[in-house]
Amino acid sequence: MTPEDLAAVGLRLDIDGQVATVTLDRPEVRNAQTPAMWIALGEIGRTLPHDVRVVVVTGEGETFSAGLDRAMLDPSTAGQESVVGLLALSDDEAAARIDEFQGGFTWLRDPRFVSIAKVRGHAIGAGFQLALSCDLRVVADDAKFSMKESALGLVPDLTGTKPLVEHVGYARALEICATARVVPAEEAVRIGLATASVPSADLDAAVADLAAALVAPMPGVVAETKTLLQGAADRDLDEQRRLEREAQVRRFRAVAAALAD
Ligand code: CAA
Repeated sequence: MTPEDLAAVGLRLDIDGQVATVTLDRPEVRNAQTPAMWIALGEIGRTLPHDVRVVVVTGEGETFSAGLDRAMLDPSTAGQESVVGLLALSDDEAAARIDEFQGGFTWLRDPRFVSIAKVRGHAIGAGFQLALSCDLRVVADDAKFSMKESALGLVPDLTGTKPLVEHVGYARALEICATARVVPAEEAVRIGLATASVPSADLDAAVADLAAALVAPMPGVVAETKTLLQGAADRDLDEQRRLEREAQVRRFRAVAAALAD
């Protein structure tokens, strides 16, 4: 997609060496999200250069994202692009459409890079779920997460429920989703939702340092490690240690080949 195509849906993509930064760029509506933005995010994932090893996702201005653009719930906004447009579809067609929307979030799990959500201010609903789609969340001390869907009579459907349970456990996840309450930065770190909280003025530097540390190891090793860890909780010990052995044999060969060069 061209920069103009991305700008038309409120996105920016900047690639600096091995680090790509995706910015939600609609600060006038607090980076509210639309289906067109989700489709474009999925396309960014499909077309990202293969040497990118870190993807930073952030929002322009002081708010990460106010979640779904409320205009998308307005019945006067007709057509496929509105969420209310789903009502005109059969159940199967509507589910297929949501599957496409989810593609804007799932690509951030790709093992070939590590994804980092850089969060300032509010991350609400779809904004919270976008942050949850990333491997890591590094936040400013003014960050506020809230899963507002229940307040609208909806469920979180943009792939956020699984990582939320994995990070904070079932009971805390249920409490956060069902009450739609705000989780402030300090609590986010304490319960394992964010890896670090720093003063807002230091956030860019903290994420840049983390990105540099993530690209420092030999190519391939972080991707192998991410693949191992991603599925670890769902596998038994024998399966997990088999995958460790196989990955290590590949790493031994890669290290030996690099030393022989
Ligand atoms: N959609 C569209 N416009 C939005 C928006 C949204 N979600 N959130 C904020 N805006 C607009 C406001 O209408 C306002 O526009 P005007 O200047 O034209 O009046 C502008 O952004 C600034 O908003 P505020 O003055 O409210 O800004 P703030 O910084 O004081 O507050 C905020 C920021 C806390 C995010 C607040 O705007 C807010 O609570 N927004 C609504 C959040 C929300 O309920 N989102 C839906 C989440 S549920 C979801 O995402 C569902 C799903 O995926 C299924």
